[in-house]
Amino acid sequence: MKTKEYIEQLNSRFFNGKLSSDFKEELEKLPIDRPDVYAFVERAFGFINQAGVPATDMSIMLGEILGSLLARLLPGAWEGRIPPITVPGRHAEIDNYIKSNPWVKIGNRKMLDIGCGFPPYTTLDASNSLKDWYITGADPSLPMYLVHDSEGNYATLDQNRSTIYFQPSLPSIENWNSLLKDSKATKKRFEQLLSELLEAPEKDKIGLQKLQIDPIKSYETDRLKFLNGGIGQISIDPQNIIRCFNVLIYFDDVFYQNTLDWFKENLEENGIAIIGANWAVSTENYYNIYKKEGDQLINKEFAFSLDNINPFSVVTWYANYDDDRQTATLANYIRLIREDATFMKEYYTINDAQRLKYKICPRNSEGYYGKTDSSIPPNELWALIRQMLDELNELGLNQKAAEVLQKAGLKARVNEVGHISIST
Ligand SMILES: C[S@@+](CC[C@H](N)C(=O)[O-])C[C@H]1O[C@@H](n2cnc3c(N)ncnc32)[C@H](O)[C@@H]1O
Repeated sequence: MKTKEYIEQLNSRFFNGKLSSDFKEELEKLPIDRPDVYAFVERAFGFINQAGVPATDMSIMLGEILGSLLARLLPGAWEGRIPPITVPGRHAEIDNYIKSNPWVKIGNRKMLDIGCGFPPYTTLDASNSLKDWYITGADPSLPMYLVHDSEGNYATLDQNRSTIYFQPSLPSIENWNSLLKDSKATKKRFEQLLSELLEAPEKDKIGLQKLQIDPIKSYETDRLKFLNGGIGQISIDPQNIIRCFNVLIYFDDVFYQNTLDWFKENLEENGIAIIGANWAVSTENYYNIYKKEGDQLINKEFAFSLDNINPFSVVTWYANYDDDRQTATLANYIRLIREDATFMKEYYTINDAQRLKYKICPRNSEGYYGKTDSSIPPNELWALIRQMLDELNELGLNQKAAEVLQKAGLKARVNEVGHISIST
């Protein structure tokens, strides 16, 4: 089936045929040779439909992310490996949540950050924020070599000197395209660069070595260690907290359940596990909190940031399997909030004005979210999106969303870091 026909099918199945032609045009860029990307989009549309999001809220930016960027980020682009994509600062609110959590006892506190990614930015952030904690980061894909080229694009390579992963210095669509238009050639180029740097080490313009060997070691301190291995693979003392972010979105529900069993084995009594996902500057945040009580790991809460009801990017819907329990749970809560016409009227009034002011996917004359001002650089874009969320929270919209859920009979509140939290 042709891409156009496929998109029309999805359009009538999930959006009553009402997607804008601009959105569809972006989606038509889906790479024809990547069934995994088509399946992802179909699954995401299913969750979006379940959440009650109308076609008018499907921004051109989301069309661009799904049509062009997604193919770079899915395991299918990396020989099935889960890419170590990470963003500094994305777990700042989770670190704050840990600081304020009443269940975490004072004293000799230990946290495992499993699936920490590389570079382990978020584990470093946690170590800086949680000053009296002993933190272990672990990941099955820690590299043997890290190289960066003169433009700042970097690659990680294994002990056989083959490229595991590479990333542009600034991960915009254009920069990804230039590295990925011939990904084999890019991998070869980095492998060649590694050979050259092993022969003759070189520094870049700002004096940093272009090659680091066993680079994870350079991040270790007396309070911060790293282990090579994933869930079920490493041996570690019982922990007070296990954090697992942006990992289980790649697995099915059987793996999720087995992970809970492994976390239970590796937690102290009253220890907590935080499992979730998010994007830059703690946007599109959602997570489950589990607490170990006796021989059980009890699901205490599910929490999410308000922007999930109308996200700019794709993490809210980021599921690689149909049975992703967290995406399904989130979609159900979003639906309940979106079904409250009074709440949504106020939300849209404020949010549409913000979009216009910040020039980020403003609503056009036909009622659809339009384009983002292309002169806004990516790091500024996400700072502005974060600012919009903060403004909505300051106006009490997170509290009002929690009240909508209370009216639906749920034990909902705004938690210590401003997220809508539902006791389970
Ligand atoms: C998208 S990154 C997330 C990095 C970081 N936690 C963050 O939130 O920015 C996913 C990471 O999961 C790791 N991973 C893959 N399989 C895993 C497993 N079985 N157990 C733990 N981590 C795994 C990958 O190597 C990758 O680095």
